[in-house]
Amino acid sequence: MCNKQYLPRVCTYRMVDQKLSSKEIFALEDKHGCRNYSPVPKLSFDPGVFVWDVEGKKYFDFLSAYSAVNQGHCHPRIINALKKQAENLTLVSRAFYSDQLGKYEKYMTSLLGYDRLLPMNTGVEGGESACKIARKWGYDVKKIPEGQAKIIFAEGNFWGRTLSAVSASTDPSCYEGFGPYMPGFKVIPYNDVSALEKELQDPTVAAFMVEPIQGEAGVVIPDDGYLKKVRELCTKHNVLWIADEVQTGLGRTGKLLAVQHEGVRPDIVILGKALSGGALPVSAVLADNSVMGVIKPGTHGSTYGGNPLACAVATEAIKVLLDEQLCEKAAKLEKVMREELEKIPKDKVTTVRGRGLMFAIVVHDRISAYDVVMRLRDAGLLTKTTHGQVIRLAPPLVITEQQIRDGVAIIRQVLNSYDK
Ligand SMILES: Cc1ncc(COP(=O)(O)O)c(C=O)c1O
Repeated sequence: MCNKQYLPRVCTYRMVDQKLSSKEIFALEDKHGCRNYSPVPKLSFDPGVFVWDVEGKKYFDFLSAYSAVNQGHCHPRIINALKKQAENLTLVSRAFYSDQLGKYEKYMTSLLGYDRLLPMNTGVEGGESACKIARKWGYDVKKIPEGQAKIIFAEGNFWGRTLSAVSASTDPSCYEGFGPYMPGFKVIPYNDVSALEKELQDPTVAAFMVEPIQGEAGVVIPDDGYLKKVRELCTKHNVLWIADEVQTGLGRTGKLLAVQHEGVRPDIVILGKALSGGALPVSAVLADNSVMGVIKPGTHGSTYGGNPLACAVATEAIKVLLDEQLCEKAAKLEKVMREELEKIPKDKVTTVRGRGLMFAIVVHDRISAYDVVMRLRDAGLLTKTTHGQVIRLAPPLVITEQQIRDGVAIIRQVLNSYDK
């Protein structure tokens, strides 16, 4: 169950007051936790780009908690907002109003240009909520016969670990052994306009849910124009387009939303991860009245969704992104990252791809990508494989140009060691 290929072990921490050794810390999790991950052994974190293990060794973080810490680890402004709100009010549930939620909703909807925001916690709850909204819209607005609404997904999708999310998955390690699966889900190839067009002829289709760039599938970037075509086809066939921007959103690809690279607007946008800058789980679904209006009191909810602590933290996390111009920074640093990665010989890395600071390298077949990740760890850089030979590289967006050059120098040095 504990897939060794999945994550190399590193035990990370931030504060110096550390009483346990790395080994003791690994042993505690191994013995008492559900073994659903196999983490890199080390433990630490610094505001920004570096993490330390409990023995004091320093690492570049080129994973950023799967793009949740775009603003860098423990950004002081986000942590201050967390502390300030935590001393005031943390949770009232949606049974009552709080002074934070409405302000946060207004801020986010104005920023992203949607009428309404539904607050949730994890990314997968954002996806679940979007699917529920789409089904309800299918029945109430599109008038799909009861019980027949379909949602279309793309091969290679990853949107989390709930039963609905794994029902949409094409990765056996996600879905095998967890059936029966959610009915009304269909999967078509990614980046395939004709397959989408064919599927949308079916009048019972309520929505097409897709990542603008597939993250867990290995940073798979669709052809230019794909998202525009998705928009056109969904409009033509009266189907909702749901963009899963949980990983691509909030600056990671060099824009606030990755769909903005093609100047298109989905009907529903899902955000998560960097929405709190790594401080706590915060996700959100954005849509206009015509779509979000199908959700009535009592039909959907979450005890923690929209809690005052999350609202204060998310607002500050977004303000940090904007004030520090992290989207622009990611867009500018894309060139540096690409230039540096392309210096790696082709007999070691066959492909370099990425947008903003969401990158992947494909390691040559004769080299084990997992082994590369382990050697990178030993050389002071943390990352992980996605699938097969693909290694993702996604540092916090606060990284400097020099730090990118230094980080990629470690990657080059490790890959060059395969000659010896
Ligand atoms: C595109 C995408 N959607 C949704 C999720 C699920 O987010 P969470 O793990 O917060 O549930 C992920 C997580 O990696 C993701 O990459």
